[in-house]
Amino acid sequence: MNEMELIAVARLAAENAYVPYSNFPVGAALECPDGKVFTGCNVENAAYGSTICAERTAMCKAVSEGYRKFKKIAIWGNCDDYCFPCGACRQFMSEFSYDMQVISANSKGEYHSRSLKELMPFAFNTENLK
Ligand code: THU
Repeated sequence: MNEMELIAVARLAAENAYVPYSNFPVGAALECPDGKVFTGCNVENAAYGSTICAERTAMCKAVSEGYRKFKKIAIWGNCDDYCFPCGACRQFMSEFSYDMQVISANSKGEYHSRSLKELMPFAFNTENLK
């Protein structure tokens, strides 16, 4: 999928967002090397810290189905600025594919695309544990 197609899937995924507290729906579309796409949305909780972001929803769906390598992720938020992944999501993604492309879109159909490595240099990784 090209960037705009993946963003369209992310935007659709945001329709299932459960956001009674922030009222800020986010959608993610995660593409694997074989072309399979996993979607995710943010799922909030009355205990705010238990909220899960759209990106991590998509990543957990993918990993739980046996996928561990990712090509790119599109993130869509209903905002003027690009919807960048939070720090926790960057760390979570870096565990699996530090080279993946991160496409952050806004509500106007514009996007910003960078590698995860550029968005999160010097990530803590499994090598640090040796
Ligand atoms: N959120 C995401 O889903 N992804 C991000 O990368 C940034 C934040 C969600 C979490 C919360 O439900 C809402 O946006 C407001 O922070």
